[in-house]
Amino acid sequence: MLTKANIAVLVSGGGTNLQALIDAQSNGVLKSGEIKAVISNRAGAYALTRAEKNGIPAFTVTKKECGSQQAFEERLTEIMKENKIDFIVLAGFMSILSENFTAQFPSRIINVHPSLIPSFCGKGFYGLHVHEAALSYGVKITGATVHFVNEVCDGGKIIMQKAVEVEDGDTPEILQKRVMEQAEWIILPQAAEKVSEKICRQKGFIS
Ligand code: GAR
Repeated sequence: MLTKANIAVLVSGGGTNLQALIDAQSNGVLKSGEIKAVISNRAGAYALTRAEKNGIPAFTVTKKECGSQQAFEERLTEIMKENKIDFIVLAGFMSILSENFTAQFPSRIINVHPSLIPSFCGKGFYGLHVHEAALSYGVKITGATVHFVNEVCDGGKIIMQKAVEVEDGDTPEILQKRVMEQAEWIILPQAAEKVSEKICRQKGFIS
């Protein structure tokens, strides 16, 4: 029997990157891993609806309800254990995880960031802010990066990057959409497959 790596996807908003991962499962790009849980740190995030529509268990865990960063991360860890999660994908997850959490999953957490790291990354650079910063700097090329997550915000080893051209007249919203379509939705599933395959090899599921 072929066994896959169990994936949890952490989200905060619309979940188009989650959708790209779900689609990649259907079209075979993501074949060594299976999404077993979707966790949002924001109640009512549309990403949760996407999970439910696809029969994936969906959880909401907010820092406010948990009361502290530590309790928030303990609850996340509990869900990972209960669902036997091997590998965590941050897909539009707008909360910074502490070393207490990241150290439990070395080379087992990846994140998609909407710029070419090391440009426009780190604390305060998330979502539309990243594209606002790229446009105000005047770069002509931007893109997306998938990287491992460690205790340094956006500082883990890079797995994949893809460049996207900035065009005259771009607004942050237009640029965000182009970066998603031309880069994020392509490299995130590819990187998730790469890491899943490695986990399957390490576990002896494939040789
Ligand atoms: C995406 O552009 C993602 O790269 C970015 O937020 C957006 C979420 O969209 N993430 C970050 O900025 C993390 N630092 P989605 O919810 O539709 O996937």
